[in-house]
Amino acid sequence: MGQTAPVTPPSPPLSPVIVIAHRGVSGLRPEHTLASYELAIEQGADFIEPDLVPTKDGVLVARHENDITETTDVAKHTEFAARKTTKVIDGEKHTGWFTEDFTLVELKTLRAKERLPMLRPDNAQYDGQFEVPTLAEIIALAKKHSVGGRIVGIYPETKHPTYFASIGLPLEKRLVAQLKAAGWHDASAPVFIQSFEVNNLKALHKLTGIRLIQLMDANGAPADNAAPSYAAMATPEGLKAVAAYAWGIGPNKDMIIKGDAAPSTLVADAHAAALRLHPWTFRAENFFLPPSMRVGINPRAHGRLSDDIRRYLALGIDGFFTDFTAIGVEARGTRVN
Ligand code: G3P
Ligand code: CA
Repeated sequence: MGQTAPVTPPSPPLSPVIVIAHRGVSGLRPEHTLASYELAIEQGADFIEPDLVPTKDGVLVARHENDITETTDVAKHTEFAARKTTKVIDGEKHTGWFTEDFTLVELKTLRAKERLPMLRPDNAQYDGQFEVPTLAEIIALAKKHSVGGRIVGIYPETKHPTYFASIGLPLEKRLVAQLKAAGWHDASAPVFIQSFEVNNLKALHKLTGIRLIQLMDANGAPADNAAPSYAAMATPEGLKAVAAYAWGIGPNKDMIIKGDAAPSTLVADAHAAALRLHPWTFRAENFFLPPSMRVGINPRAHGRLSDDIRRYLALGIDGFFTDFTAIGVEARGTRVN
């Protein structure tokens, strides 16, 4: 009797590790501004990440959430005072001003401000300088810098897809049409589309060949209730189901290594399901780092982010989101393109 050959799980083909500029280089500039994306590109980002929400007239713009109270100067615009309102989005109550209540022309009169001024006081010096960018402007920026053999990609996230569909502003067809017009429609495009929800990724899977990324948080479940929990999605069984429509997963980094604890098996499990992993979010401030990576006790001071990233690289991640592009590029080693 011959010996049974050991079973080797399938692995996705090796690809270079990518550095994704999370909201631009948001550790150094107010997030989701052209200035933030452009500095990230200068620092060597492979991809820039816009989170996308629509305006009242259906234009996709970059904001982390449709509530623009914390990241723009809208509260100072007396002409928009009456638009302050309360909405329930993904089951949570929010009071403020919302992109879907502004036309693009109106939104363009606002200026961005730093989200975390206590942790990133230097960024607040740019408050009031930059507009809310459109997806079209971000695509143009990436293309402008894709020269001399370098390709700068974009990594858009559809924010609150079920909510926006419910108010008649669905994101998916708008996004796919705009990417197609830019010449991006299949897996060779320098684009990844990400979502924390499941059903809109499944719909996107039918609409486009662009690579899709299923985001997962360390707690909770998708807002469209398409899975019982992110924890269930991250099991070997759950990952197999994700692989039917997604190219990879974007897990909270805690799902791979939580603080200073031992690593989970998520990298190996995802690779066994032929899924790549792009965890988020690597930030330099002590406030965000595990105890072993902190330097001093000032929460604003920078710790050893590069070393932190390398712990994950050693486990075999395929890319990562960071607020500090230059540190990410340095930790990764050589640039992809
Ligand atoms: O999209 C990856 C990461 O950005 C997810 O978190 O909340 O920063 O959009 P968030
Ligand atoms: Ca995001």
